[in-house]
Amino acid sequence: MSSSLSRRRFLAGFPALIGAGALHPAWALGTPATLPIPNLADGSDGKPVDLPIRQGEWSFLPGVKTPTLGFGQDYLGPTIRTRRGSELSLRYHNMSSEPVAVHGHGLHVPGDVDGGPQLEMAPGDRWDPTLSIVQPAATCWYHSHTHGRTGDQVYRGLAGMIIIDDEQADSLALPHRYGVDDLPIIIQDRTFDAQGRLVYSLMDSGDDGWFGETVIVNGAIAPVAKVPAGKVRLRLLNGANARFYIVTFADGRIFHKIATDGGLLEAPVPMTQMEMAPGERCEIVVDLSDGRSAGLLTLFEDEFEDEEDEGLLGGLLGLFDRSESEKTLPPPSLTLEVDNALMPHTAPLPDRLIALARPPESAIVRTRDFMLEMNHSGAGGHGQGHAMMDMAINGAAMDMNVINERIERGVWERWRFRSDQGEHPFHVHGCSFLIDKVAGESVPADQKGWKDMVVLDDDGWSEIIVRFDHPATDRTPYMYHCHILEHEDRGMMGQFTVS
Ligand code: C2O
Ligand code: CU
Ligand code: CU
Repeated sequence: MSSSLSRRRFLAGFPALIGAGALHPAWALGTPATLPIPNLADGSDGKPVDLPIRQGEWSFLPGVKTPTLGFGQDYLGPTIRTRRGSELSLRYHNMSSEPVAVHGHGLHVPGDVDGGPQLEMAPGDRWDPTLSIVQPAATCWYHSHTHGRTGDQVYRGLAGMIIIDDEQADSLALPHRYGVDDLPIIIQDRTFDAQGRLVYSLMDSGDDGWFGETVIVNGAIAPVAKVPAGKVRLRLLNGANARFYIVTFADGRIFHKIATDGGLLEAPVPMTQMEMAPGERCEIVVDLSDGRSAGLLTLFEDEFEDEEDEGLLGGLLGLFDRSESEKTLPPPSLTLEVDNALMPHTAPLPDRLIALARPPESAIVRTRDFMLEMNHSGAGGHGQGHAMMDMAINGAAMDMNVINERIERGVWERWRFRSDQGEHPFHVHGCSFLIDKVAGESVPADQKGWKDMVVLDDDGWSEIIVRFDHPATDRTPYMYHCHILEHEDRGMMGQFTVS
């Protein structure tokens, strides 16, 4: 883990922790917000889930209404819960005044229901895809994928969580009561102007992408969640546009990571801190049977200085003498507060979660290399959206009319990624994959599960092994892209078919 934390990004960081997880001053005036828990939309029995896309007004700051977008609510959308073996039927209706495409991130579904930019809904349009859920239990999400506007629309609220259940996960003694001991935790950062409006500009986003100043969790600033005095499962989603977070508890307590993007790990991995890239999901279980509150910190990875060998891990632990000096700690982004009236989940964590079958080396039939380019000289100018297309992969900026790769269905491949500058969180549609190398180094235990996000840099190849089991045609291809949404909108994305 320390190696992945020490990799350097585009700008030299500064060592001060001041401002990490900074709170808007308005927060200090009010009582802390309660953690908003998005409504649960049951999509397991074939009943359609209505997802009207509409403008709204949401109070991030006490007493201030901020213009936003959401799915049937003012900001974000309901948590869609479905099951392996279900037909998930979604009913989108674009009631906003702009085009919107919505993608199911992490879902193993064919290209025609994947929700890439080809499936854009004009204002007033509807889209009713039915998705056969064939994959194992996992935490996925849905979000805007509109050509050239993804960053802007996600920033204003077009995102929500998807929970997939299955029998294997049901059979394990894991906390599973939604909103009680199984909490959706969508971490984002936003900047507000003096009127409380969201500040965003693709044009003004620097090389790092757009960083918000204030962390919000499920749309609230530094909220509190009442939880039982037992094991609590957090389904963490880094839903930020560009920010990498270091997630840790203020008191340094151990938690167990139980799942990566694509589902459960083989066994829980004990940790005290972990990095989360934009787009990534991590399920963790934290034990609150000691009755003490736990503050979840979401530190800004970009604010830590690169230190050659000890890296961030060393720097972090050195700066935080957690037992005595509260003042060196940034305030928690979320506080879990024990409520003894709630029935706790006290069963021990299972030692084993799932069995993970890795294909033999001989089954991997071909290798593809992807080079992410920050300064793509050939492109420039403006794309079909409103983005400047000045970033690229393998010499080509995203072009809706070009298929960049054609892939054979049902066959294992090795994909290798690298960049010409800095660290990027890479995502591939239509699959989960296994990571073989992270920037030239071996894979930490907590990333050895199914993933759809891999971090890469300019230092060494990141490698995955991947297989696509569903078709994607020229008309509705899959995407692969950097999940720094400003990089995606600036062309760091490609299209591929599976047949
Ligand atoms: Cu989460 Cu193509 O995206
Ligand atoms: Cu995706
Ligand atoms: Cu990038």
